[in-house]
Amino acid sequence: MKVTFFDSKPYDIASFEKYDRQNGLEFRFYETKLNEDTVNLAAGSDAVCVFVNDTVNAAVIDALYKNGVRLIALRSAGYNNVDVKHAFGKIHVVHVPAYSPYSVAEHAMALLLTSVRRIHKAYNRTRDNNFSLNGLIGFDLHGKTVGVIGTGKIGRIFADICHGFGMNVLAYDKYPSESSFIKYLPLDELLEKSDIVSLHCPLTEETRHLIDSAAIARMKKGVVVINTSRGALIDAEALLEGIKQRQIGAACLDVYEEEADIFFEDRSGHILADDVLARLITMPNVIVTSHQAYLTTEALDSIAKTTVENIVSFINGDICENELCYRCGNIEHCKKERKNKCF
Ligand code: NAI
Repeated sequence: MKVTFFDSKPYDIASFEKYDRQNGLEFRFYETKLNEDTVNLAAGSDAVCVFVNDTVNAAVIDALYKNGVRLIALRSAGYNNVDVKHAFGKIHVVHVPAYSPYSVAEHAMALLLTSVRRIHKAYNRTRDNNFSLNGLIGFDLHGKTVGVIGTGKIGRIFADICHGFGMNVLAYDKYPSESSFIKYLPLDELLEKSDIVSLHCPLTEETRHLIDSAAIARMKKGVVVINTSRGALIDAEALLEGIKQRQIGAACLDVYEEEADIFFEDRSGHILADDVLARLITMPNVIVTSHQAYLTTEALDSIAKTTVENIVSFINGDICENELCYRCGNIEHCKKERKNKCF
């Protein structure tokens, strides 16, 4: 089975290489992203392996199908970039529902600590022999209230970490889970009561711009906003305005709505065309990492292992637990009752 990888970086290739030419698999790696212009690179492949910023819309799916591709293997948990409904009946779609939720939750806490203790400033200062403390006053996390939006695998671990720091943990989730220390509230109340708001829900039509100007207006003045989930959960222009108005005290962003053509690439010799991102980056209270939260050795190993298992399961004609199926419209959860293959 020939598998064409898109958006593959050296660290992806390193984690997948050991599976090449094993179990009947043959890999071909491209650094370019999958989109309507590059889709023909998949010609002759049985499967494509894609990541979060590849475009797998209806047109790309039709072109893949025409080229003989029968499997889309996502190397990610999120699948908002794939038109799963359009793929149904043509191309099977598998994903990696969990690899290391710790990687993302720990990155969210790393960003929060960096921000509130001004580590990003101190690091640059001491490298320049500037040992002044002026302007570096932080605040204790202990006793503060964090609002966690989405308490699935990652959000729950982030909540545990915050609990360990002695923070009060509020949460909002469409499907609240049992917890001895998390207090679930309606979204508006969570926004009003939280010193820190961290996003861990998926990007759907319902959650797009969940954090808009109205939501920001409800937040406490000086709130710290963390987004390690998907960029479009936040209206970036509203966020920028909230920062300029001093309503938002700090923002920690691992994802950005328009990241697809920017993140994962070295753009240091280029003029950044995105004015909102360019302005956000200039802010002393904004920290941006380029969709790096997942990037740990443990996560990369686990992504490669599960992706290969998903592909091998497809080759063997097995029911793959990680298939995203649109049969009942309940994309991820219907597999729990599935007795036969999706289609
Ligand atoms: P999960 O599926 O375990 O948890 C998602 C939670 O969000 C669930 O509890 C669900 O009930 C809740 N939810 C769904 N719709 C909601 C809504 N409208 N409002 C409030 N809550 C809602 O997913 P997991 O593994 O925790 O991942 C969360 C997100 O993190 C992913 O969707 C992905 O976008 C992002 N992610 C980011 C990474 C990065 O490197 N920055 C890496 C991996 C995931």
